[in-house]
Amino acid sequence: MSSKAPRLLLVHGHDCPRLDIRQTLSQRYFFVECALTDLPSYSWPEPLDIVLDAPIDTIEDFQRVQAALRRRPKHEPGIAFIIERQERALVLRAHALGAETVIARPLGARALFSSIDLLLNRARSKMWSERFGPEAEGLLAGTEVLDTLFEFAANGTRLTQRELYSRGDTVIETLGETGLGRWVEAVKAHHSRTYRHSLLVTGIAVGFGQLLGMRQDDLQRLAIGGLMHDIGKATIPAELLEKAGPLSEEEAMIVREHPSLGRGILSRQGGFAPEMIDVVAHHHEMLDGSGYPDALSGNQIRDLVRIVTISDIFAALIEERSYKTAIANEDAYAMLDGMKGKLDMSLVRAFRPIALETKLAA
Ligand SMILES: [Fe+2]
Ligand SMILES: [Fe+2]
Repeated sequence: MSSKAPRLLLVHGHDCPRLDIRQTLSQRYFFVECALTDLPSYSWPEPLDIVLDAPIDTIEDFQRVQAALRRRPKHEPGIAFIIERQERALVLRAHALGAETVIARPLGARALFSSIDLLLNRARSKMWSERFGPEAEGLLAGTEVLDTLFEFAANGTRLTQRELYSRGDTVIETLGETGLGRWVEAVKAHHSRTYRHSLLVTGIAVGFGQLLGMRQDDLQRLAIGGLMHDIGKATIPAELLEKAGPLSEEEAMIVREHPSLGRGILSRQGGFAPEMIDVVAHHHEMLDGSGYPDALSGNQIRDLVRIVTISDIFAALIEERSYKTAIANEDAYAMLDGMKGKLDMSLVRAFRPIALETKLAA
């Protein structure tokens, strides 16, 4: 599934689709639309979850929505219901119609996004479990780590190192069992660009570490480091990170703060191994000193960081973004190979099989 594939169906039951929901949804999701009256004959080209925006003020309204939803497709889509105002009767009616989550007008982007993310997360976990069976465990573990990390970074919730490492182990096991290709395939199902990217970098870095024959404790550091490397982005507004277009110079400068922000977040909490903080703070440094935020050079940049940097650049190149298509693996590898002086070329050469032999179209 392409990252640009729609994940939601906006079903509208008003005279014409409401602008507020359309505009807010389009800030973050790809979606298709369908009138409530057309829903029974809708052909569901993909398993989408539903955002339902329809009046339920009268018993007739209720029955109309109920009748339209009766022939729900096989994948049993989750439903997020938009109601006109926060009113108990409307909330109850929405739940009676099968809503998993109910959002009242006026629509706040944050509340809407977190409700819909919940719906999409549930659908994705189900899909992973069905399609990948026990192998889904590592993906779910990786996602849980990201949930915890981002929650921790944004709201200061506690995080135990032991949990982090045990989930890191699950990620490594899964990658050992499924191989990188399946991991990448599954990661595409995540709706958040930051999550997709972090899971992809993790998969590539651990796969690379396994190829290099690294020890288990180093693989652990790569798994946690990969998941954590962009944690500084947790404090950058989602509208910027998920923006459907290239960033302005000013916006790009804000995003470039993320390694320093990440270092601050981890240092404040305390208890993180220095090599983890190193990965977070320095994955955008270059051997020739042209990177940021500290313009480190040469052997000031440790091996673990070098591996994450290569995995990070390669992941970003092969990812499809709203403003650029994915670059083919061969071309992406050629670009890495062209970064002599900036990257560790012996590592880049060792990376070749990961880049070329694994099917990694992301
Ligand atoms: Fe980064
Ligand atoms: Fe990154």
